[in-house]
Amino acid sequence: MPRLLHLDSSIGPATGPGRSRSREVTAAFARTWAEAGPDHEVVRRDLVASPLPHLLDPDLHWAPALRPEGSSPDPAAEAVQEEVLAELLAADVVLIGAPMYNYSLPSTLKTWVDHIHVPGTTTPFPGHEAQPLRGRPAVVVTSRGGTYDPGTPTETWDHAVPPLQIVLGDALGMDVSVITTSATLSESVPALADGAERAAAELARAHEQAVATARQLAALVR
Ligand SMILES: Cc1cc2nc3c(=O)[nH]c(=O)nc-3n(C[C@H](O)[C@H](O)[C@H](O)COP(=O)(O)O)c2cc1C
Repeated sequence: MPRLLHLDSSIGPATGPGRSRSREVTAAFARTWAEAGPDHEVVRRDLVASPLPHLLDPDLHWAPALRPEGSSPDPAAEAVQEEVLAELLAADVVLIGAPMYNYSLPSTLKTWVDHIHVPGTTTPFPGHEAQPLRGRPAVVVTSRGGTYDPGTPTETWDHAVPPLQIVLGDALGMDVSVITTSATLSESVPALADGAERAAAELARAHEQAVATARQLAALVR
């Protein structure tokens, strides 16, 4: 069964005034995936409705075989990590709603990353070379209130998407693509209203990209 793992991390509502753009676009992707056939499964993890606990033991950053001698992580914390890892490893495609908060990732999503970036389990380490997610698609849907265009003073201020590209792409070997919608605050903040036309155009394009990418990947992993 082709399986999509659908993660969201926006604290905004899915519908209504001030609705989350990333939730809207990931929902369109997941709907298109599910419409590809009754065998196309969607596994949902809403990191706001059900936040993961922080990773509080440095030994859990490592595969069991690479942990220091005498290491004995809290079994409950280890069980949570095992569940999150198993869910990721069982996914054919991973879809991540990643809004920009304070130029960075939402803390709930960062906590998920802390659980899944595990040398020796998901990323290679000398003597433990497996990279089980290599080549699998990961689609990041990012939404941000402002704009971060090349050649502008904020060009380098996006620290939300780059860590996901490094961890999922470089470390885990996944095939990462990014769908972006910017200037979202122009619709709710009068002082930013100049950007409303751009915001609407980017959102419409993000929807188109989400539907096209979902169709393409659903056909690919059939
Ligand atoms: C806590 C918080 C911090 C934010 N920080 C930024 C920021 O640093 N830069 C920015 O462009 N927008 C920022 N925003 C605006 C969001 O990026 C914007 O509203 C975006 O659309 C949120 O994603 P969503 O529509 O999926 O909820 C922030 C919003 C919140 C709630």
